[in-house]
Amino acid sequence: MSVALELPPLTAEESAHAARLGERLRDEISRCGGWIDFSRYMQIALYEPGLGYYSAGARKLGEAGDFITAPEVAPVFSRCLAVQCAEVLRTLGGGDLLELGAGSGVMAAALLEELERRDALPRRYFILDVSADLRQRQREALASAVPRLLERVEWLDRLPDALEGLVVANEVLDALAVERFVIREGAVRALGVAWQHGGPVWSEAPAGGRLLAAVRHLQREVGVEWPDGYVSEVNLGLGEWLAAVAGALARGVMLFVDYGLPRREYYSAERSSGTLLCHCRHRFHDDPFARPGLQDVTAWVDFTAVAEAGQAAGLEVAGYTTQAHFLIGNGIGEFVADVTGLDVAERVNLSRQAMLLTLPGEMGERFKALALTRSYDAPLGGFAVRDLRHTL
Ligand SMILES: C[S@@+](CC[C@H](N)C(=O)[O-])C[C@H]1O[C@@H](n2cnc3c(N)ncnc32)[C@H](O)[C@@H]1O
Repeated sequence: MSVALELPPLTAEESAHAARLGERLRDEISRCGGWIDFSRYMQIALYEPGLGYYSAGARKLGEAGDFITAPEVAPVFSRCLAVQCAEVLRTLGGGDLLELGAGSGVMAAALLEELERRDALPRRYFILDVSADLRQRQREALASAVPRLLERVEWLDRLPDALEGLVVANEVLDALAVERFVIREGAVRALGVAWQHGGPVWSEAPAGGRLLAAVRHLQREVGVEWPDGYVSEVNLGLGEWLAAVAGALARGVMLFVDYGLPRREYYSAERSSGTLLCHCRHRFHDDPFARPGLQDVTAWVDFTAVAEAGQAAGLEVAGYTTQAHFLIGNGIGEFVADVTGLDVAERVNLSRQAMLLTLPGEMGERFKALALTRSYDAPLGGFAVRDLRHTL
């Protein structure tokens, strides 16, 4: 897919930023002998302090940014999530809530507001985001929307100890760095990054070590013949990352919402060009080198891998369902039906939000919700309508 020409032109400031990140990438590639893993590229392009997409000041989320997420575009998403959180906090007799990757802070504000309305506020609302740059925006969003609740919010530099309560993460798993691979005449080859003609380019090398073992494992699990030239992604760091997050949870529930699939569908032979997706000014494409540092780079989530990583970390897979069913289980229908005090435009907007979040052709089925629990046996309302764990 050739897309660069369709993107809006860069400002002088953006060009200078892209050039600085380019230098950083070129140096890294040269330091590593002319080739880096794709995950290293993604890590630098997204999170390099002061330069990476999420770490360098520009507005990313929302109408004025590059993409929108469910909480950005539809506040009723966060209200439904609050219903699930309230249920868990009540069952536990109170607790803390940790949000990973809080983005612009809109979900935190809406969650806290709805939890307050339900008299189910967490003792403390922790936020942990790799982007220090986003903290200021999150603080401003919370100070403007729920100033009275700001004192409950605490920004963390590392995972907390022995958290009792909830961990929530919307569209964070897709932002973790992945490896890319291609199958050539039955062999697994790593798709890494080299530097050519003044920019990063794809470069193949024989896969070894962890990548080779992981891809062979996927092939055995999925049990289908991938066609020659088959490309896909795999997150080699997921197990370690999830083990660290799980280690912070002493008792309670972790909720992940993201776009993704069970392994068998993710790695089906038909999905032969991978799941990499880049967002820039509300256009999406699959070229991670088009605008390093100025565009989001994501990959779909293999939810089977997340469930396995959770189990390996001692957690139970307590629920897996589509976003639509998760929201229905958490009362989106009631929110839409309750139009008290809303004018016509607000009612129409609420219905539009619900459709966007739940219709299969919109976000309803592409996005999934997964619950991992520790020492928590009570049913979870969001997963009661449709249980898809057997598909994992
Ligand atoms: C696509 S944005 C989603 C933001 C927000 N959750 C939403 O739904 O609007 C991804 C967010 O995850 C953060 N992030 C990425 N990797 C992370 C990690 N390992 N730990 C915590 N936050 C992370 C990014 O900085 C960013 O805020």
